Amino acid sequence: MPAPGHASSRFMSRLQHRLDVHGQQGLIRNKLLRDGPCAAVQQFGQRELVSFCSNDYLGLANHPEVIAAWQEGAAHYGVGSGGSHLVTGHCRAHQALEQALAEFTGRERALLFSTGYMANTGVINALMNEGGVVLQDALNHASLLDGGWLSRARSIRYPHNDMQALAQLLAQHQHEQCLVVSDGVFSMDGDVAPLPEMAGLAAAHGAGLMIDDAHGLGCLGASGRGTIELFPEHSSGGVINARELPVLVGTFGKALGTAGAFVAGDAVLIEYLEQFARSYVFTTAMPPALAMATLTSLRVSQAESWRRERLQLLIRRFRQAMSGMAFPVLESHSAVQAVVLGDVDTTLAASALLRDHGLQVSAIRPPTVPRGEARLRITLSAVHTDAQFDQLIQALAVVNRHYIASQSGRADANH
Ligand SMILES: Cc1ncc(COP(=O)(O)O)c(C=O)c1O
Repeated sequence: MPAPGHASSRFMSRLQHRLDVHGQQGLIRNKLLRDGPCAAVQQFGQRELVSFCSNDYLGLANHPEVIAAWQEGAAHYGVGSGGSHLVTGHCRAHQALEQALAEFTGRERALLFSTGYMANTGVINALMNEGGVVLQDALNHASLLDGGWLSRARSIRYPHNDMQALAQLLAQHQHEQCLVVSDGVFSMDGDVAPLPEMAGLAAAHGAGLMIDDAHGLGCLGASGRGTIELFPEHSSGGVINARELPVLVGTFGKALGTAGAFVAGDAVLIEYLEQFARSYVFTTAMPPALAMATLTSLRVSQAESWRRERLQLLIRRFRQAMSGMAFPVLESHSAVQAVVLGDVDTTLAASALLRDHGLQVSAIRPPTVPRGEARLRITLSAVHTDAQFDQLIQALAVVNRHYIASQSGRADANH
């Protein structure tokens, strides 16, 4: 007989072993303890750092009107919704936000989810079944990939933004039910999916198309409608419509500065998801105060278009400054700018160096990105001042000097 606790200690030692291996590979991630709001300058204990890694691209997470809407919502509804949407949790505040999102995206209806992760897993799981095929871009967000696996349909990943590969796969699976799934703006690279080509291919092969525009919504396009607004020549209404792109997901935790997500599309899609998306049905509705804050945030993002213009200006200036650097910066015109340094140690050292310069930029490592592609994921925000931006560029010039030295050291070692 094993001693009491034996099985459990064996179980725990397996966990410990995996953690040890992860640690040896430099992949353990540690949480930073922040003491104040999500703003350009953030407080970590005694230390203040200028953050270039939050997703608060428009600077709305700490906006006074958004905070006031949250407070008003809490005063009116209390803090919790008290139930799932289909039982008793659905409030007028949710309904108002859904209507505003439908109008904003040019779709018939929208449906709220508590998080983007839940929206993506819930939608794909509801739309697809065994026997179907989910075609995913290789760089899709984990929540999309997990949704595919959860659905028990076959998941196939095509090379990043490779429309020829996608066309071939669609032809190959002509007789199966296919759903093409992609990020709109790729979360770790910052580039965008070629939506018109994808829509054309999906339509030609009778497949569904789902785009998660978590990082495009609010930021891209003159009115912030996101990636769907980047291709006006392909659409009569100025945005790619629901016929071309039937399943559109957006999240609130990025440009809108709150939390939660939505799916927008034709009434039939939304009715279907309302009944069958398990992460919608079997969970507590988001607090109505959060819905009120998000609605205010959506309105502010529309009214204060200077935020988008400022963000776009910083993106252009960043691209210009980076053109003189030796390290590779991925092609991107979104708020996400990736400096790919390659190995984990170099990237961790660069992140530490930036911290020494008063900047917070996180090192993104596998499994979030492929092996050998560790990077600094720099995010720009409308509320970064010129001085903060210059501080970033100057510090990156130091990273660049280290990078050049390490590359020439490597070249010498190879001779
Ligand atoms: C592309 C993308 N989709 C979905 C999510 C998940 O959204 P949420 O944080 O609301 O769960 C993220 C990141 O958080 C993301 O980058």
